[in-house]
Amino acid sequence: CGIVGYVGTRPAVDVVMGGLRRLEYRGYDSGGVALVTAEGIASAKRAGKLANLDAVLAEKPLPHATTGIGHTRWATHGAPNDVNAHPHLDATGRIAVVHNGIIENFALLREELEAEGYEFLSETDTETVAHLVHRALQATPDLGDAVREVCRRLEGAFTLVIADADTPDKVVGARRNSPLVVGRGDGENFLGSDVAAFIDYTKSAIELGQDQVVEITADDVRVTDFHGVPVDTKEYTVDWDVSAAEKGGYDWFMVKEIHEQPQAIADTLLGRIGSDGRLQLDEMRLSDGELREVDKIIVIACGTSYYAGMVAKYAIEHWTRIPCEVELASEFRYRDPILDHTTLVVTISQSGETMDTLMAIRYAREQRARVLSICNTNGSTIPRESDAVIYTHAGPEIAVASTKGFLAQVVACYLLALYFAQAKGVKYGDEIRSILDELEKIPAAVQTVLDRGEQVRKLANDLSDSRSIMFLGRHVGYPVALEGALKLKELAYLHAEGFAAGELKHGPIAVIEDGVPVFVVVPPKARDQLQEKILSNIQEVRARGARTIVLVEEGDDSVVAYADEVIRLPKVPTLLQPLVATVPLQIFACEIATQLGHDVDQPRNLAKSVTVE
Ligand code: G6P
Repeated sequence: CGIVGYVGTRPAVDVVMGGLRRLEYRGYDSGGVALVTAEGIASAKRAGKLANLDAVLAEKPLPHATTGIGHTRWATHGAPNDVNAHPHLDATGRIAVVHNGIIENFALLREELEAEGYEFLSETDTETVAHLVHRALQATPDLGDAVREVCRRLEGAFTLVIADADTPDKVVGARRNSPLVVGRGDGENFLGSDVAAFIDYTKSAIELGQDQVVEITADDVRVTDFHGVPVDTKEYTVDWDVSAAEKGGYDWFMVKEIHEQPQAIADTLLGRIGSDGRLQLDEMRLSDGELREVDKIIVIACGTSYYAGMVAKYAIEHWTRIPCEVELASEFRYRDPILDHTTLVVTISQSGETMDTLMAIRYAREQRARVLSICNTNGSTIPRESDAVIYTHAGPEIAVASTKGFLAQVVACYLLALYFAQAKGVKYGDEIRSILDELEKIPAAVQTVLDRGEQVRKLANDLSDSRSIMFLGRHVGYPVALEGALKLKELAYLHAEGFAAGELKHGPIAVIEDGVPVFVVVPPKARDQLQEKILSNIQEVRARGARTIVLVEEGDDSVVAYADEVIRLPKVPTLLQPLVATVPLQIFACEIATQLGHDVDQPRNLAKSVTVE
């Protein structure tokens, strides 16, 4: 998750450890460092906090070196332990690699290497890269050439930083779809997963582009594409202080995380389709037979994760035809629910530590139900106690209220539903294929919504003195309305309520009065029936003085006449609409809250992970 590289004149261990400490804010569960010393590569790594690694280094100091690389890992594949921590070395100990991302074709590459006699020490995709670089160096003496050759063979998303015992004055980095920044110093150069890694030493930086390799020595920075063609780079000056650097230049982690959502979605989708065309889960300890037995699904979660669960219900029932209930974890085990070994309990938890959710799965397992968890934190308690796991690869979420975690959960819920549809042999082949294609387009669609954020921020400015705000939706727009209201409560401390638009007439409409803002999520045009109904809902609140803010897909003008403000959403299939419709509501809540002077990263009274019942 955090990457550092250094070549210069200072003790590399200090620069690398200092850089890793600056990257701690990103969250991690293990750390490691490798130095190129006169006796070859020397490395140390440890699970847990950097203090554990410090202790190892204090007890057994590494030999002096002025070239080094380091890594803090946030486990996505494989448990967070000492063995899986980076750096990974090849079997001869010549090459050290640190890596973020997933090498999708690593199993194939590993087979190829094993056939040639390469021995593997771990199960990681990263180790494969170490061996590949070692092999390439048999044919070329140049580390940069070797890395480029290897990169051309790799599929997936990755940032790699590589040190070679036989090239002591150089570190090579590479990136595809995953960030890497170069820091230019005077007689020293740096690599970092973001500028925070080297901000104590230099403010001069170069952002590496897609599919590029960088070679740094103490005096030189050379950037090429994967074929060795030199690339023009643009150096810029980082004018952030350290705390802004941690936030990627944004004022708040929350704003940064909202902007990371296209990446979070893309990463959660990455590598999900196996060579057999079937979806892959991260951990599956249930047999196909056990899966086919499942005749009921109960989704359990808390807070924002619960709303992801509500979206899941629509997808699961539609695609799998398996009855699905959604329940708040805190209610579940106290109501004597009906479940047995044919029930699949699906838990959704960003942290994997929420006590209500954990207690609910323990109860479910006592009743012999199977448990599958959707979680963002590898090695946390909930996935450890589950029969199967899908990890959301949103990366660490620092802000207390969930944003990118939520969108990644919704994506994982779709994957789960599609997985079940395949496992049950439901005949929706074409629809599944087309939904997967549509999902691939979602990161770009979310980016479009983010690019139009200014309109929403202006609106937040206009509405910042509202006393109460209402959100309405139908179908999957209903959980979006609930999430929009929750964000506003969490961040802005404003009274906000979300309702199923059809319920309006059964009560909520009574609170509408002049000027009350009402957000309405309009289902895509394809859903004519739903559209007609929601159109009347908008007219009903407007007739009573509400100020209507309508979220509607591009090209659909049916509601424009009744809207005081129209927020355009990219065209996506109905079931996927929450992925685009939630984003303006997050921006809105965050903006109102900052205008009111609140700390949006740590709202009052709230905790990121609630470990009490
Ligand atoms: C807390 C957080 C929420 C989160 C909820 C569930 O209340 O403040 O943002 O949605 O817990 O957390 P989980 O980690 O289980 O998803």
